[in-house]
Amino acid sequence: MCGIIGFSGKTDAKSIILDGLKRLEYRGYDSAGIALQKDNTINMVKTTGKVDNLVKIAESNKNLVGNCGIGHTRWATHGVPSDVNAHPHMSSDGKFAIVHNGIIENHAEIKKSLIDKGIKFLSETDTEVIVQLLDYYYDGDIKKTLAKISSMLEGSYALGVLCADFPGSIFAAKVSSPLIIGVGAGENYFASDITAFISHTKNVIDLDDGEFAEITADRVSVFDHNLRDIKKEERKITWDVAAAEKSGYEHFMLKEIMEQPGALKATIEPRIKDGRVSFDELNIDMKKYDRILITACGSAYYAGCVGRDVIEKLCRLHVHTEVASELRYRDPMIDEKTLVMVISQSGETADTIAAIKEAKNKNADVVAIVNVVGSTIAKLADYTIYTWAGPEIAVATTKGYTTQVAVLYMFAVWAAGKLGRIDDKKLKELTNDIKILPERAQRTLDLNTRVKKLADKYYSKQSIFFIGRYLDYAVCLEGSLKLKEISYIHSEAYAAGELKHGTIALIEDGRLVVSVCCYEPLLDKIISNIQQVKARGAQVLALAIEGNKKIFAEADDVLLVPKANELFMAAVEIIPLQLFAYYVAKNNHCDIDKPKNLAKSVTVE
Ligand code: G6P
Repeated sequence: MCGIIGFSGKTDAKSIILDGLKRLEYRGYDSAGIALQKDNTINMVKTTGKVDNLVKIAESNKNLVGNCGIGHTRWATHGVPSDVNAHPHMSSDGKFAIVHNGIIENHAEIKKSLIDKGIKFLSETDTEVIVQLLDYYYDGDIKKTLAKISSMLEGSYALGVLCADFPGSIFAAKVSSPLIIGVGAGENYFASDITAFISHTKNVIDLDDGEFAEITADRVSVFDHNLRDIKKEERKITWDVAAAEKSGYEHFMLKEIMEQPGALKATIEPRIKDGRVSFDELNIDMKKYDRILITACGSAYYAGCVGRDVIEKLCRLHVHTEVASELRYRDPMIDEKTLVMVISQSGETADTIAAIKEAKNKNADVVAIVNVVGSTIAKLADYTIYTWAGPEIAVATTKGYTTQVAVLYMFAVWAAGKLGRIDDKKLKELTNDIKILPERAQRTLDLNTRVKKLADKYYSKQSIFFIGRYLDYAVCLEGSLKLKEISYIHSEAYAAGELKHGTIALIEDGRLVVSVCCYEPLLDKIISNIQQVKARGAQVLALAIEGNKKIFAEADDVLLVPKANELFMAAVEIIPLQLFAYYVAKNNHCDIDKPKNLAKSVTVE
């Protein structure tokens, strides 16, 4: 969703901010803008469309100069994508310019009261109330005014502010939206995520909710709403700038698919000690819980569906899944005996955050599986298990998903051991089965060329179905989502046994049905489903395990993946489906890394 960057230094801020905005493009946006300050003057330009449009306008604007400034990519929530609704927003006297991520929930009341005071609004955005409030209450003390107006705002915000009276300073504030400060040598930054400034510095300070910062070229000072100084620790980012760049790949998505063996290794290996899964980060007594509830959004939810089946199978404990965007409406049966597991690559998904709050209100313990270190969800949860997948830039998640699945496998084995459902021998066997997954993922990537050929054959289909049973069905959900997200082809995932209860009406001549047949105990069942769709004219692309000879007589095309423990196949079998989605989208000339209407991290409910 929206991205923000701020810079104060001794060099030209324009190129640094525009470059930062390009690096934030992956979050999804529809307009962009930049404001720079020189002495007591602030100038800004903003426009709809790609950052490249902004770059052209900004570069030719001779007034847009300065060593400090702010930039923004906007994903429209309040008001259509337009030049006037794009950020920054400036006060009419030119004293303030601001950029904002998040939503001001009480903007309508504030706007009304300011209009009653004679203030004119230009845009339809909730954000404009912030700049108008600043301008209205400003008495020469910017810190005091910032603290005052923040107490009037309800909702979420990461805020970047320029004030004409303070040349060289950029101000930041944060509540429930991510904001990180980058500490460089003679230059400092803030941004909604590290990728915006990772090429300049790896030293960061996490701004916490309710905190403010004044950032100049040489100093970062953080203060609270009483204007008391807060001493903050710096931390160092461990990944390299190359991790946030394409390194020769045409798209981040393909790069991230290829990175999966390494990402799985980084997730799994540090958590294996003496041949057993071990979670230093989990200080919980599994015997306390009578059920587990897994909640998340999008692909993270589908990873949760895989986790549900594996945890329930190994732990013999009730495990339920619920999409986080629905959880709170159901007045769910959650109490202190429920272990709530939330899953989120970004750690910033608003619906998932709302689900955590619901769970905590009902006294549940919350374990989060998160990729982004220091993210809101990581901080809100009682326990956080990081996936250590490295930065994921493509909107459609790949290594984020597989590493979440790997954590869930490890959790299932760990919890089954703690509950005494498996003995030490079995625990070690299962741990070893998880340990070999990176190697299996590596071998699965060898299918790349073959999958590309199949995508060449099938890319013009109007509608594609995915069918599977049990764990394979959970994988179909993710395979189908990947395809529709990036290729815009209609697709549905169906539990193969449910086909005959309705969807089979849509099977006709030439319809492509991708049949996932990797859970071998149910092979005969899925083969009979394949026969049912073939009898109605479907073309079948089957995914099965190496050594499966039967499948060749049933399907039009077959992809064989390496064998792993039947409970742990999802982390392997999803890979050809990701590649298939990728090449189908590529053949259809889609904007693979930034699909239309989608955002990497959805920070609105
Ligand atoms: C968005 C993304 C999806 C992602 C979902 C959950 O919808 O487009 O790819 O799966 O959010 O994101 P999270 O960061 O919480 O895993």
